[in-house]
Amino acid sequence: MKPNEEDPREVALHCHHVDVFYGQGARRNHAVRDVSFQVYRGETFGLVGGSGCGKSTILRMLAGLDGDWRGEVAVLGQARSAREKPPAAYRLQVQMIFQDPFGSLHPRHTIDRSLSEAMHVHGFDRIEQRVLAALDRVGLGRSFRFRFPHQLSGGQRQRVAIARALVLEPQILLLDEPTSSLDASIQAEVLNLLMDVRRDLGTTFLFVSHDLGVIAHMCERVAVMQQGAIVETLPAARITSGDVAHPYTRELLANCFPHHAAPVGLETP
Ligand SMILES: Nc1ncnc2c1ncn2[C@@H]1O[C@H](COP(=O)(O)OP(=O)(O)O)[C@@H](O)[C@H]1O
Ligand SMILES: [Mg+2]
Repeated sequence: MKPNEEDPREVALHCHHVDVFYGQGARRNHAVRDVSFQVYRGETFGLVGGSGCGKSTILRMLAGLDGDWRGEVAVLGQARSAREKPPAAYRLQVQMIFQDPFGSLHPRHTIDRSLSEAMHVHGFDRIEQRVLAALDRVGLGRSFRFRFPHQLSGGQRQRVAIARALVLEPQILLLDEPTSSLDASIQAEVLNLLMDVRRDLGTTFLFVSHDLGVIAHMCERVAVMQQGAIVETLPAARITSGDVAHPYTRELLANCFPHHAAPVGLETP
């Protein structure tokens, strides 16, 4: 990736002309079409768009979960090959948080085990200390260490999922509708936790949501997707001011804020 002379910011994540496919032959689905964007280090970049437009597909491809893609992908200047599984260093640097925190945690594993497993695989030291620090960081406290997922609320489970990603000290967090399954008040708490994480650790976020209000609240820049393609990339402030160019973005804005030209941000408690 060439550094842009006019823009000194470091690029954390680079996608250039990326296509992603599901299935084979006549059933082949071209789910993501010629998508290009860059996320700067420490930035929160949003992907927004209706159901089925390809947001999760982009994140799953970046996380190395779905294989059939082509184009250029680079993380912190390191290009990734579409022909190989991502190397171990990449799998540490890029962590994903899923919409459903219950589905993403093993029901019969304690929180301790869920948090330590990947650290054991990757040969981390001081695992107990890191587990305790992560529980503190996500506001759960150490008494949660030996509980099971079913003993936790939805918001607490999502905090565990965030802690499980953070123990690996990722550079980039891929957040797939991380608060969509939570009640509104809990949603605001988890969003605030994520903002604290970003402020304290400088983690780069690629943040997916169908909710333009959440995106405007969390992100610096946003790519709007429709049917697998990015139709417009814009500063989030332009969503707040209603200054959007593409008709589809206007439509999303009107659906999200029918009575108001601009979104009312989620208030910080
Ligand atoms: N595992 C899969 N197999 C086949 N098609 C899929 C699979 N996952 C998603 N798709 C299709 O890919 C497209 C994009 O889906 P997705 O990325 O989940 O959208 P979004 O997250 O924006 O709602 C949709 O047409 C969806 O039906
Ligand atoms: Mg999705």
